[in-house]
This record gives sequence, C-alpha cells and structure tokens, in this order.
Amino acid sequence: MCGIVGYIGDKLVAPILLEGLSKLEYRGYDSAGIAVCDENGVTIEKAVGKLENLYKKTDNGTTISGTKGIGHTRWATHGKPTEENAHPHKSERFVLVHNGIIENEEFLRSKYLKGVNFVSETDTEIIPWLLDKFTQSGEDTEMAIRHLMSEIVGSYALAIIDRENPDVLYAVKNKSPLLIGKGEGFNMIGSDSMAMIANTNMFFEIHDKEYVVITKETVKIYTQYGKLIDRAPFKAELDLSDTEKGTYAHFMIKEIEEQPAVIRRLIQKYADENGDISVDKAIVNDIQSCDKIYIIACGTSYHAGLVGKQLFETMAKKPCDSYIASEFVHNTPLLSEKPFFIFISQSGETADSRAVMVKVKAMGHKILTITNVKGSTLSREANYTLLLHAGPEIAVASTKAYTAQIAVLAILASTVAKEPGLDIKYELSKVANVIETICSESETYKYLAEKYLKNARNAFYIGRCVDYYVCLEAALKLKEISYIQAEGFAAGELKHGTIALIEKGTPVIAIITQENINLNTRSNIEEVKARGAKTLVISTSSLSSHNDKIVIRDVHPLLAPIVSVVPTQYIAYYAALCKGRDIDKPRNLAKSVTVE
Ligand code: F6R
Repeated sequence: MCGIVGYIGDKLVAPILLEGLSKLEYRGYDSAGIAVCDENGVTIEKAVGKLENLYKKTDNGTTISGTKGIGHTRWATHGKPTEENAHPHKSERFVLVHNGIIENEEFLRSKYLKGVNFVSETDTEIIPWLLDKFTQSGEDTEMAIRHLMSEIVGSYALAIIDRENPDVLYAVKNKSPLLIGKGEGFNMIGSDSMAMIANTNMFFEIHDKEYVVITKETVKIYTQYGKLIDRAPFKAELDLSDTEKGTYAHFMIKEIEEQPAVIRRLIQKYADENGDISVDKAIVNDIQSCDKIYIIACGTSYHAGLVGKQLFETMAKKPCDSYIASEFVHNTPLLSEKPFFIFISQSGETADSRAVMVKVKAMGHKILTITNVKGSTLSREANYTLLLHAGPEIAVASTKAYTAQIAVLAILASTVAKEPGLDIKYELSKVANVIETICSESETYKYLAEKYLKNARNAFYIGRCVDYYVCLEAALKLKEISYIQAEGFAAGELKHGTIALIEKGTPVIAIITQENINLNTRSNIEEVKARGAKTLVISTSSLSSHNDKIVIRDVHPLLAPIVSVVPTQYIAYYAALCKGRDIDKPRNLAKSVTVE
C-alpha cells in the first residue's frame, strides 16, 4: 500500500526521497510524488505509473534543490491514479503526504472547509486545508496538529511540511505504520524501515495518536495532548543487502531459494543454550491452559494458519481453528470459555488483522503474534511475539514467510505438546535439506509450468486434508502473479458441482503427501482425467506412482506442507514469467495491506 518517506538534513534531498520510494515500491502503488523545500519555497513533482516516470521528470532528482522534503507512493483508494490525486497535497501553508483513510471526511468538509477549491478527489486533501484553517484562527503548528488529531477519524500516517517553519518536518500517526529514522546530522520519516535503511538503521517507534517534531538534529515525540515522550531508538537487524535482489531476476525467486536458509535460521534462533528447541514458557503455559486456539490472519498467512490448526490439534491435542480476519471482525463466532489468540502476519501491519486484535484485546484475551517484522503494530499490541526471522520479504507474493510461519507454528505446537512427539529440530533440518533438493530442480518446474499453464485460462489444485490447505495457497500464488484463474479445491468435493468446469485440457494439479488420503485423491484425479483434464501430480516418494511428474523426498507428514508448497511456488513463478507478468509487483496488489 502507500509508502511515505521524508528527510531533513544537509544533503540534496530529492535523490534521497526517490531512493527511499524505490525501496517502498514492493508495497504496491500506482503513482508517486515528492515535495522539496528550499529558500524559494516548496517544489512539488508528481507522476502517474512507475517511479521511473518521476525519476525521469526530475532527472533523477537532480533538478530540484533543497535539503528537506517528503515523498509518497500512492495505491489508489479515493479517486483514480492521476497526478491530481497523487500526493503530496497542499493548502496555502501546508504540504503533506498521507497513508490511510479519513472516515469523517464529508463531515469535516462541511464543518470547516466550505468554499475551498479542492483539486483532487482524495480524502487526504482536506488535511492541509484543516491545518490552514486552524492556524489561521491563531493556533501555532503543534496546536493545529493536536486539533487535527482530535477532529479526524480514521487511519493516518502523515509527513508534513509547514512553509512557515522551514527547519522542521512534522509526522503524525494513527493506525497506519510510521517510523522515524535517526541519523547523524539528519533525521527521516518512513512508513517502514526499508525506506530509510540506505541512510540509517536506528529508528524510533511511533505509536497511535502521537505526533513528532523533527529537525535535522532532534526528534521530539508527543502524545495527542502535547506531553513529551521519552523513547529510545532501536537498531534494526536489517541491512541494505537484504533489500536487493543481487543476481536474481526477481525478488520472488530469490525468496523461494532462501527457504532452506530461513528454516535453518529458525532452528538456530529457537534453540536454547543446550541446543534444544524452546519457546518462551509463558506462551507455552497460556496455550496449555486455554481451551481453544483461534488463529487470525489474511491471505497466505491464513493458509499457514490452516496448517497450524492441523499441527495444534494433532501434536498438542488442542482444539484450534484458523479464521479470515476480515470475516472474524464482523462475524465473530461464539468464543470458547478460555480462548487463546494467535495472529499470523508477515508484515505485522495488516489492517484487517489489527481490527480483530483491537476487538479481542478489549475482551481481555491473551494474544500471540507470529510476524516477520520486529516492532510492527501487531507485535507491539500483542502479549507475546514469535519472529519468523525470514529477512525482508519484498516480492508481493509471499513465499518464505509462509514456510517460516508453518515452521514456527510447528515449533510452538511441538513445544506445547505434553507427550514427547516428533524431534522438531531433526525434522526441520530434514525439511531444509529437502527444500534444497527441490530448489536444485527448478528447470523441471519451468518446463512443467510452460507445458501446463502457458496457454491456460484457468487451473485447479486439488488435495485432501493438509494437502488441500496447501492447494489453497498454491492456487493463490498462481492467480496473483500469473493472473490465471486458479482454484484450490478439496479433491473429494469437486464432484459435487465444480467438476462441471473441467473440460479438455484444463490443468489440474494434485498434491498427495498423506498416506490416509492417497488412494482417495488418486480416484479424484481419474475422475477429472476422464473428463479431459491435463493432470499433474506432486507426491512424496513413499506415496508416489510411476506417472507422478513431481516427486519430493519424504519428510515428517505433519511438516509436508513446508516442502510440498515449494514446487507450486516455482510453478507460479515460471507460469507468470512465460506470460510476461510483472512478477514482483502484480497488478492491483499491495504488499502491506494497511486499509480494511
Ligand atoms: C499473498 C500475500 C497476501 C498476504 C496477506 C496478509 O501472496 O502475500 O495474501 O499474505 O495480505 O499479509 P500479512 O501476512 O502481512 O498480514
């Protein structure tokens, strides 16, 4: 979703802003803009489409002088992606960029802004005009910002230029993510650390309903009521090389191939001083004493949650269900007496998941967040956090975060299990080795993706039990990056209606990793074959049949989803590649979905 960057210091700012925005491209956007201040005033440049258009328009930022500025990548919500709607937006005195949505926009327009000539269709444009209005009535800038915070309802991360305070940048936050980067002789604003990591790895967290006054030397954080907050910066574990794709053609393929290393890193990170896998005892005790685990997540993380359900119920004998956050928030099921909540989120910023967190927190329930981003909103607001240690995931399509999520769920479920069960450390090491073998066969997946999917309009993944959960993820990956209409289906359910869609040449990919359903899924493959489907089977070696085209080495059946998903990630990648898609930034999608 939208990205923000800001800088105040001594260097020429436009190239810094553009570089920061380029690191935010992975979040998804359809226009971009910057505003830069020098002694002559504020220059604003905007461009629709790719950031390179803005680079061209400003000759890589060199045509604009000034050492203070703000920038934005916009993912359209209110109004089309046009230059008028692109940020920054301005009034007579203020220029600003905004992530989020103002919910009481209409009310504020009629209360304060009658007669203002707005040039865009955005909700954002009311904000600089409200600040104008408040300062014209005698408030100083900080008072006007506090006033603004008391009036606007919704989500907002703002970076603000006040033409009358040339040595200051302001930032404001509620619900949308925002960090302040601390430098030597400069400071920065960013919607995530990536925007600033080329310049600094020290950051201040900003909480909801706080605003920040930033000069090149100082960062002062205040509550909505103007009380100064004493908060130390933290050091990010990220470095610049993590955000670059090196010799890989795309981030997605790099991230697929990082998976063995991520699993090995997790084994290391979750090992105690004796080398045994362990998790914070308080988390384990809370889960052991709850009567049901509720997993809340969206998209790929929800699919990992489905596998988590299987792991908790089988290994730890705990009832568990995985829920889609955007459904759970409005259609909350009747809760058990002692629930325990697990939120799974790569970014830790997903607004749908956060809406549920706010709700269950208010009910007083215990919450664990499993996330890749230390210090993210969902992590801060939970009682506990377990990190994925996957390194930044930049491709919009999630791969290594999914496998890391299942690995962390398996570590947790095996720790919660009272009976000694599987040796998780040994089994995960095996998983890492098997993924490595799969990665060495990428040419096979390329060939199969071209053969089965190059000309396909639609496709099915079918499986049963945990294989079905992987099918849901495999289909999501395929559709989001190749735009082939793909469906993950419970193999036994096809014949109850959906089989009507199978015609000559429809690609149907089956996943078989569980002995108890092997023969049943194979019968379903025969059913679709008889109706003309082009079938492809992914199976584990102990269950394979001589016609299976992808055979993966056996791992513990409970951990099979971590390996069986990998060929499907490759298939999605190569299908998208042969269709010439924009793999790392598929259309209409955003990496960090910060609106509900
Ligand atoms: C798909 C994908 C999305 C995310 C979903 C939740 O490849 O990445 O479906 O999984 O938007 O995002 P997080 O995990 O950041 O909460």
